[in-house]
Amino acid sequence: MSGYVEFKDVTKTYRTGEVEINALSGVSFTIGKGEFCVIVGASGAGKTTILNILGGMDTLTSGSAWLDGTEISALGKKQLTAYRRYDVGFVFQFYNLVQNLTALENVELAAQICREPLDAAEMLRQVGLQDRMKNFPAQLSGGEQQRVAIARALAKNPKLLLCDEPTGALDYATGKSVLKLLQDTCRNTGRTVVVITHNQAISAMADRIITVRSGKIESVRMNDHIADVADIEW
Ligand SMILES: Nc1ncnc2c1ncn2[C@@H]1O[C@H](COP(=O)(O)OP(=O)(O)O)[C@@H](O)[C@H]1O
Ligand SMILES: [Mg+2]
Repeated sequence: MSGYVEFKDVTKTYRTGEVEINALSGVSFTIGKGEFCVIVGASGAGKTTILNILGGMDTLTSGSAWLDGTEISALGKKQLTAYRRYDVGFVFQFYNLVQNLTALENVELAAQICREPLDAAEMLRQVGLQDRMKNFPAQLSGGEQQRVAIARALAKNPKLLLCDEPTGALDYATGKSVLKLLQDTCRNTGRTVVVITHNQAISAMADRIITVRSGKIESVRMNDHIADVADIEW
């Protein structure tokens, strides 16, 4: 299905005092259900702005944004809160775990506020952390903390997994294993995954590659030769 995610002529203007910044102008693209999509572009290109609009964390200035037939950009404040809570899972560069809760408790906490959460312990098993459930974030490596964050996002059973520079704080090998986990999650569960990166090389593993440049879409293309992350080098 194409158009599971859709941006139609989206513009985003930030105003700070007298200054206007056009973070996005005329951005249109679609992402199909179950796809592993990479949005790539230089720093300042507008990637996080796209993800924040798609995740219901920011509003657009004009145009419309859609997920699974719902117009996100038409939702009111309360509906947006529900949308963020139920429909979208987030993975950030710096994990954002609660430090005084164990890995399992971090995942359970997120699951508690959801309508149809998945089992927290099972999610931690799926990300390879079956033996670390009782550990606190400070007792885990960066890669392990990011796995907890992914388990937490998945436990919400979201329609969409949004990842903003998920390997930005990780070393090379750990970053690769986290990307592999995200790709496997997409393949094995049919979940739609969007990964934002400034790293052009990572786009080789995507089903769909959306390139952003200076607030505009430079290209959207399907990848004919999807690479195994192990074979990508940067
Ligand atoms: N809250 C904000 N207020 C003002 N300008 C912003 C804000 N957020 C982002 N911008 C500007 O919008 C542009 C796109 O930013 P961003 O989406 O964060 O880019 P990327 O994630 O690709 O690095 C940049 O010029 C940035 O400075
Ligand atoms: Mg960014």
